[in-house]
Amino acid sequence: MGSLSPQESNINSSPTDMPSALDPVEFRRQGHMMVDFIADYYQNIEKYPVLSQVEPGYLRKCLPESAPDNPEPIESILQDVQKHIVPGLTHWQSPSFFAYFASNVSIAGFLGEMLSTGFNVVGFSWVSSPAATELESIVMDWLGNLLTLPKSFLFSGNGGGVIHGSTCEAIICTMVAARDQMLRQIGLDNIQKLVVYGSDQTHSALQKACQIVGINPNNFRVIKTTKSTSFALSPESLKLAISSDVEAGLTPLFLCATVGTTATTAVDPLDSLCQVAKYYGIWVHVDAAYAGSACMCPEFRHFIDGVEGANSFSLNAHKWLFTALDCCCVWIKDPSTLTSSLSTNPEYLRNTATDSKQVVDYKDWQIALSRRFRAMKLWLVLKSYGAVNLRNYLRSHVKMAMLFEGLVSTDRRFEVVVPRVFSMVCFRVSPSAAIIISDDEINVENCINEVNRKLLEGINASGHAFMTHAVVGGMYVIRCAIGVTLTEEKHIAMAWKLVQEHADAILMKNNI
Ligand SMILES: Cc1ncc(COP(=O)(O)O)c(C=O)c1O
Repeated sequence: MGSLSPQESNINSSPTDMPSALDPVEFRRQGHMMVDFIADYYQNIEKYPVLSQVEPGYLRKCLPESAPDNPEPIESILQDVQKHIVPGLTHWQSPSFFAYFASNVSIAGFLGEMLSTGFNVVGFSWVSSPAATELESIVMDWLGNLLTLPKSFLFSGNGGGVIHGSTCEAIICTMVAARDQMLRQIGLDNIQKLVVYGSDQTHSALQKACQIVGINPNNFRVIKTTKSTSFALSPESLKLAISSDVEAGLTPLFLCATVGTTATTAVDPLDSLCQVAKYYGIWVHVDAAYAGSACMCPEFRHFIDGVEGANSFSLNAHKWLFTALDCCCVWIKDPSTLTSSLSTNPEYLRNTATDSKQVVDYKDWQIALSRRFRAMKLWLVLKSYGAVNLRNYLRSHVKMAMLFEGLVSTDRRFEVVVPRVFSMVCFRVSPSAAIIISDDEINVENCINEVNRKLLEGINASGHAFMTHAVVGGMYVIRCAIGVTLTEEKHIAMAWKLVQEHADAILMKNNI
């Protein structure tokens, strides 16, 4: 057993002179200091390398081996944050962050998070904090209406919405609902026969869900996509895969269609996919993690046409709707399928509101029991900006992506690999820019892939911007994903200049 500190060893010692850990005066003082710190961080964010430049294990070298015995003042803690933590951050709120998909935030999203943490209620059942539950149901209907989701997905139409932490959770929960609904028909013993469908562009969240939900690993179908359909899932390919499974005596269960794939923002054709799925009685979940938010703009709404044929739909408001992480909005047409799989009713949580069956108990719509008051931040975002401003923010990112796309097109050494749909541009140094002496097509692709890999490495090492890559149809492509709240057109111009400078160096060095 470790030795006790002097204070701990003397049980008669006087109480510490530390004020209550929730003393309102101290909270106000330290809270203001924290807000100042964060405001300064945003103001100075462009001074930091976007991609953190530290080496693995750097922090252990900076921090003591054990937690302090005695309190430290907030002033010195903030100094530590500045000195040791900030260098190890990849700055997701930097206007030159173009990697992955953004995780954008806003004043309203941030303040909503503060309120939610301040109240720190745990709204697992209606009675445990009625406002948390009711606000969540209301904002999910509000947002559903902004997306013009069919009424059948809204509480006002016997469907309903819930806020999960992530799309991974949303897919797991909806797959469990689909699984149990099917097993009630075909018998529990037939779980090994269930088949799940996605494309080679579907997010790995689907594979993880299959692993957790108990889908036989041999029954996870990854349907190939091609450049000719801009990497969207073809309904014909889906139909072929399903009919061959049916012939083999298997039971098609679940399709995950994507609106805005991670690699290239491809859009799976919901209408025809849902028609195929309907014929075979398959549950369709639409994963619109990134692009879903854009569909509140009338000009992008058509990308989710056909959603009326799906069973569930989700988007991450923390990606592109100015709401701090985490906030995955999930709508489901028949919430009873979800609750019959996820409900528990232990004695210690029993209450008359639940017994009355007049209320939503969100613990039965998700994996965990405890849950954060996430609706608060989404409510603040919707109220503070209003649909008009939100649409304009989204459009501004799309417009900047168009600008970047235009810049790429002006340089003959580059190509836009797939047509831009939302606010991401997939581009690369094109094979025609490189004098690669080979008759072998594979060799040429490998060589140009290497040029692009080096180009991206150089851009990111510069610290002036951060982009990530994808490999589609054997091509290594660079993704410029625009979606950070602070990004302006000048950052797009700077990013493009950076790309060109690094391309100059690489192409010259390789004598290309
Ligand atoms: C299309 C798509 N689906 C799912 C996910 C995973 O989301 P989460 O981290 O919320 O599980 C992502 C993440 O970028 C995504 O792009």
